[in-house]
Amino acid sequence: MHLLAGKHIVLGLSGGIACYKSAELCRALIKQGASVQVVMTEAAAQFITPVTLQALSGRPVFSSQWDARSAGGVDNNMAHINLSREADAIMIAPASADFMAKLLHGRADDLLSLMCLARPLDKVPLILAPAMNREMWAHPATQRNVTQLRADGATVLDVGVGDQACGETGDGRMLEPDDLVYELQRFSTPKVLAGQRVLVSAGPTFEAIDPVRGLTNLSSGKMGFAIARAAHEAGAWVTLVAGPVSLPTPRGVERVNVRSARDMQQALDGLARQATVFVSAAAVADWRPAEAVEQKIKKDGSGQVPSLSFVENPDILAGIAATPRALSRQLYCVGFAAESHDLLAHAQAKRARKGVPLLVGNIGPDTFGQDDNALLLIDEQGSTELPRASKLTLARQLVVEIARRLPT
Ligand code: C5P
Repeated sequence: MHLLAGKHIVLGLSGGIACYKSAELCRALIKQGASVQVVMTEAAAQFITPVTLQALSGRPVFSSQWDARSAGGVDNNMAHINLSREADAIMIAPASADFMAKLLHGRADDLLSLMCLARPLDKVPLILAPAMNREMWAHPATQRNVTQLRADGATVLDVGVGDQACGETGDGRMLEPDDLVYELQRFSTPKVLAGQRVLVSAGPTFEAIDPVRGLTNLSSGKMGFAIARAAHEAGAWVTLVAGPVSLPTPRGVERVNVRSARDMQQALDGLARQATVFVSAAAVADWRPAEAVEQKIKKDGSGQVPSLSFVENPDILAGIAATPRALSRQLYCVGFAAESHDLLAHAQAKRARKGVPLLVGNIGPDTFGQDDNALLLIDEQGSTELPRASKLTLARQLVVEIARRLPT
C-alpha cells in the first residue's frame, strides 16, 4: 500500500543550501512509486544542477517560463499551466524566505512562482518546506508571510532545529526527506480518524529482577509504532505509550516512554480518560518478580541459584475495557493476541475475556521483530483476514477497519 504510487508530484526548488536534500527527496518519492517533475528557480541552480535532478527524476527539469519545450505533453509554450494542471500536489522544498515573500504577493516573474500562482487552488495542494537561517526564520516579516500563506491556502510545514550551514544553531533547517515524504503521504490519506484521540501502547515491558537484570520479551514495538503513524496520517491526535524500544517516534505523535507493566498501566489509565480509541498492541509481561531487589544478586561460587517467585501483572486492557467510557463506547478498545496455533479460537476467547469490541490476532513467532505480519480481526460480526503485508500497510488497513466500527 504505497500511498504515493501513481501520484504526480511537482517538486519545486528555490535557492538555499538545503537543495542538496532535495535530490534525496526526489529519489525517495520515485521509490514510493510517484512520478516527479522538477521545477527549479535560477537561484536553486546555483546550489544543485538540473542534471542531477533530471537523472533522479527521469524527466527534463524546467526553470524558465520562456522554455519552449513540450510540457505535460502539450506544445503551447505554457509550462506554468501544463505542469500545474497534471500535478496531484506541488511541494516546494526548499522554500526560501525570498520565494515565500514572492508567493505571498502573487508575484510571478519566474516559472516556479508563475506555476504556483496558476495552479487550480481547489485541486492542487501547495506544500512549502521552508529552509533558512534562524534569524531569517524568526524575522517578523517571514512569520507574517507564513501566516498569510497559510490563510491563502498553502500548507507551510514546520522547520527543523539544529546546526545550520552558516554555523549558527536554531530553527530554520529544512525537514529531512523522510519527513517530507511522510507529509505528502499524510496529505494523500483520507482523514477517517479526524477528530479522534487515539491512544496506542507498543513494545515489551521490562520487569526488574535486580538493578541489572529483568524479565522481558521479544516484542519489537514495530506494529504499535506503525499503528500510531497510520492513525496520525488518518487525522487523529495520537499518543503512543512505548515500552523499552529504540524505534524513532512517528512524526506528529506524542510519545510517553515506560518500562514496567505497572508504569505502563499508570500512563495508560490516565491517558485513556481523554482518548476515544485505545489500541493495546503492547506485549505486557504477564508476571513480574515478587520483589525487585535493590542490589545486584551476586553469584557466590557455591553453585546455589537464587530462587525467584513471581506475581501476576495487572491486565491493563481488561481494566480499561471495563471503565464506563469504554462500556458506553465513548472509548473504543482494540486488543491484540499473539498466539502460536488455533488463532481463530484463541482470539475469539480472548476477545470475550478482555471485554473488547475488536480483537486483532496474529501468530507470535511470525511477527515478533519482523517487518511484515498477517492479521485476523475478530468482532461480534465474525472475522476478517488482513493477508501478509508490511506492518505499515496492515496498520493503515487496521485504522480503516477501526474507523468503520466507531459509533457515529
Ligand atoms: O492476555 P494476553 O497477554 O494474551 O492479551 C493480549 C492483549 O492484552 C494485548 O492487547 C495486550 O496489550 C493486553 N495486555 C494488557 N495487560 C496485560 C497483558 C496483556 O493490557 N497484563
